[in-house]
Amino acid sequence: MMIVNTIAELQDALYKHRQAGSTIGFVPTMGNLHQGHLSLVDKAKELSDVVIVSLFVNPTQFGPNEDFDSYPRTFDADCQKLQNHDADIIFAPSVEEVYPGYPQNKAQPNLTKVHVAELGKDHCGASRPGHFDGVTTIVTKLFNMVRPDIAVFGQKDFQQLAVIRRMVQDLNIPVTIIGAPILREPNGLAMSSRNGYLSQEQKDQAAGIYRVLSWAKEQLNTHKQSFDEVEQSAVKQLEEQGFRVDYFNIANADTLQVAETSDKNIVILAAAFLGKVRLIDNVTLTL
Ligand code: PAJ
Repeated sequence: MMIVNTIAELQDALYKHRQAGSTIGFVPTMGNLHQGHLSLVDKAKELSDVVIVSLFVNPTQFGPNEDFDSYPRTFDADCQKLQNHDADIIFAPSVEEVYPGYPQNKAQPNLTKVHVAELGKDHCGASRPGHFDGVTTIVTKLFNMVRPDIAVFGQKDFQQLAVIRRMVQDLNIPVTIIGAPILREPNGLAMSSRNGYLSQEQKDQAAGIYRVLSWAKEQLNTHKQSFDEVEQSAVKQLEEQGFRVDYFNIANADTLQVAETSDKNIVILAAAFLGKVRLIDNVTLTL
């Protein structure tokens, strides 16, 4: 396994693989890796000859009051895990390498940005202004640095995956996007780097998001209540369990617009705070 920190080194490392005709699989991450991330690496390994994983906490996708500075950085442990999962190349650039001039120019007012209008508007896009522009911009930059054949993203960040698929389609980026299922703790809690902020007691409590999502899915499957009633009851249940609910939305899984009763592919998206920690999760269903 090779570890590279600069774009030039990365391109050198990739050159010989490209010359040999190997296919390149890419897994972008912000590090602090858990089994969810590693399942994406395994998927990429299954689908391509050479797997490259980026570890980069991207400042431009964090809001001014979010956790960029405190986001867990666990480089050595991440490298060990990636070695165990047979990753070929780790790309761990500095902020300066990716965004020359940073952090003097923290707001990045002059940075060229990629903006996916429709799909990035609601849900997390509404609560985290600028977040998806930060994600699409860094993912485009990483795609241009790595030029992968395939890239694997988790369905845990359902809206992010939809936004990236749309960006790749609209901008004709020559990469195949693969979506991979959500990995969960035994109690149902979706694995997340931010779970590390929770105490054991809060982790048990946090599994309530998945329980309420599963309850909502069951309600929709059995047509017992309207979408509105399910949403309202779900918010109430989460609040009773101690969450501060950011949103709980039943949406069309393709457009991410408010679901209509005639829609077939549905996603139920939730974001809620436990203390200061913001957790997101989702379930999909076909009606
Ligand atoms: P990060 O939060 O580190 O997630 C990296 C990838 O791991 C994403 O595709 C995410 O959906 C996936 N992932 C996270 N938890 C998962 C779980 N429990 N099961 C399956 N997959 C999971 O998402 C980002 O980083 C960034 O926005 C990034 C795309 C790297 C751009 O900076």
